[in-house]
Amino acid sequence: MINYLITGGAGFIGSTLANHLSKENKVIVLDDLSMGKKENLVVNLNLEFIEGSVTDKDLMTEVLSNNKFDYIFHLAAIASVADSVERPVETHQINFESVLMMLELIRKYQKDLKRLVFSSSAAVYGDEPTLPKHEDSVIRPLTPYAVDKFAAEQYVLDYNHLYGINTSAVRFFNVYGPNQNPESPYSGVISILVDRYKKIQKGEDTHFTLFGDGSQSRDFVFIEDVIQALLLVASKDEALGRQFNVGTGNAITLNELIEVIDETLNINLSVKHESERDGDIKDSVADISRLKKLGYKPNFSVQEGMKKYLASEELF
Ligand code: NAD
Ligand code: UD1
Repeated sequence: MINYLITGGAGFIGSTLANHLSKENKVIVLDDLSMGKKENLVVNLNLEFIEGSVTDKDLMTEVLSNNKFDYIFHLAAIASVADSVERPVETHQINFESVLMMLELIRKYQKDLKRLVFSSSAAVYGDEPTLPKHEDSVIRPLTPYAVDKFAAEQYVLDYNHLYGINTSAVRFFNVYGPNQNPESPYSGVISILVDRYKKIQKGEDTHFTLFGDGSQSRDFVFIEDVIQALLLVASKDEALGRQFNVGTGNAITLNELIEVIDETLNINLSVKHESERDGDIKDSVADISRLKKLGYKPNFSVQEGMKKYLASEELF
């Protein structure tokens, strides 16, 4: 059996990956449940859950010295850009310091690791206007989140070049799908939108707060395509020591996205505007040619992905 460690594995992307991998492999999930939920994980004899923080050195030492992992996916982070603007010091401990500490522990205890995959972000590109973003585009991080993701990603790749540890990084664009937690004001926008549409269908009086005029655009990528990308990056030799954009190659504005969901569900969402968030990126879209060379083929446009997501939530 292949052994996996997934940090942040009770969260949105991590739990989907853990549920997929634990069908046939041994998976340890480590999560502090700050955003993730145990209920996201399908109970399975192959899956072990450890509640704790990636910043806890004693715990991380115990986990990494007592197990022999083939693959580690480091997904634990405070995923919200806006939260990092509110709490730069706390988010830095989790989004950067824990990564460096883990790299040292891997160097010491995980000599046979086949791959560490680190979850970086499209946020590293910032607001430099040239689109689409390819991996060699200008890096101009605008927020503590983006600075930490870029620095951590570079350390992760450097540990490959300097110490021969098998590492890769993925720069996710905007991922959406089942198990994304909508409960925080900092949650991913699609999870918040879906939550509002659900409430409307239940007859509740609610609205969606749109920061800015809704003309900001994102490359929204469905979770199933993200799992495909993670498995490819983890398994291909060509991915060693490199970073990969994970998106669809197409963007949509928030206004257009709301129109798509309104039409699909035959609902007219009530939208209230507030001023744009500090550090918010205007437009973002991925060039995915590097990932395609590994064999990646996105299977879901945002229209198709949204239909599958809304159907799985029994919204239509
Ligand atoms: P998520 O919030 O659902 O998952 C992150 C998980 O990490 C949560 O379960 C949370 O409880 C856990 N966590 C937070 N702090 C922790 C700590 N100190 N110790 C242990 N666990 C901790 O977010 P997600 O969307 O699944 O994101 C996964 C990763 O991908 C994150 O690193 C995020 O920054 C990155 N990412 C996500 C997106 C996206 O669009 N969702 C885009 C770019 C990058
Ligand atoms: C998202 C991810 C981040 C990732 C980045 C990569 C989350 C929470 N954030 O950040 O981890 O690194 O993509 O591209 O998963 N908005 C509203 N109303 C709301 C919430 C959001 O108008 O209630 C707007 C935001 O101001 C922003 C857009 O929607 O313009 C997207 O916001 P969000 O889902 O938080 O994503 P990003 O900031 O792009």
